[in-house]
Amino acid sequence: MLKGKDIISALDLTHEDIMDLIDLAEILRGKPMYDIAKDRILATAFFEPSTRTRLSFTFAMTRLGGTVIDMGPEQVTSRVKGETFQDTMRMIDGYCPDLIVIRHPVPGSAAEAARIADAPVVNAGDGTNEHPTQALTDLYTIWREYHGLDGLTIAIVGDLRYGRTPSSLSYAISKFQGNKIIYVSPRQLRIRREVLEKIKGKVEYEEIEGLDEMREPIHVIYMTRVQRERFEDPREYERLKGSYILTREVVDGLKGNPIVMHPLPRIIEIPEELDGHPRSRYFQQAQNGMYIRMAIITRVLDLRPP
Ligand code: NCD
Repeated sequence: MLKGKDIISALDLTHEDIMDLIDLAEILRGKPMYDIAKDRILATAFFEPSTRTRLSFTFAMTRLGGTVIDMGPEQVTSRVKGETFQDTMRMIDGYCPDLIVIRHPVPGSAAEAARIADAPVVNAGDGTNEHPTQALTDLYTIWREYHGLDGLTIAIVGDLRYGRTPSSLSYAISKFQGNKIIYVSPRQLRIRREVLEKIKGKVEYEEIEGLDEMREPIHVIYMTRVQRERFEDPREYERLKGSYILTREVVDGLKGNPIVMHPLPRIIEIPEELDGHPRSRYFQQAQNGMYIRMAIITRVLDLRPP
């Protein structure tokens, strides 16, 4: 199924792939350490900041008994001397890693890395485009709560224009039946039309501007941060960053008693007062990311799980 494959877009994952990864993540979380990736090497190349994605892949590979080589911050590589992205990828691949995990600010760069490299490439975020392993983390978190991924209503809130997690989550949930997405954003940050094109006919959706316009019960409220680094005009960011702030009062007023998710980092959209709320799931979500990435590595490298 995923053996030897690149993971570039959530659209490429089948229903069967997703369920298999979730089942495997459930098994793998049962033990802290394995040795099934002994003699295997994962290379991480992050050309953009990351805490969770890079660390959870590193922890995941380490827990499977494998080795991780990190490119390090871009500033200490020959990129600063003018080496191209293409040459950098060719070099990393030339050291024969078993898997390359890459993050880059330019949409399409993970696909480009996959064309250059012989090793399978996992997209850990390519600009505003996609973040498929976050979508798997998200579905895994939702599945743990509701024991299924069909017939759900999910509100995705915030920066849907520049965010890459709303697009990948939309694609991934479109592989399941009877789901509805309510996109909640300011007019300037609406979900990209290309995303809607790709899910049309597979997921029901609607677009609104205010959380108070949401009349129906929802299962999940998925918050996102306004992506400051993608704005040309910093004043526009300042105007929009506080568009939605999920206080305890707002959460308690939502119909359907939804769980609260966020890919993190949160900035101001989720105040700390919500951390102890019985429906908050964002820190568990981050932890689930490690287990789902253990499953991804296991399948792509065709390791023998216990
Ligand atoms: C997200 C990302 O990088 O797209 N973070 C993550 O991987 N958990 C979300 C974000 O940066 O806002």
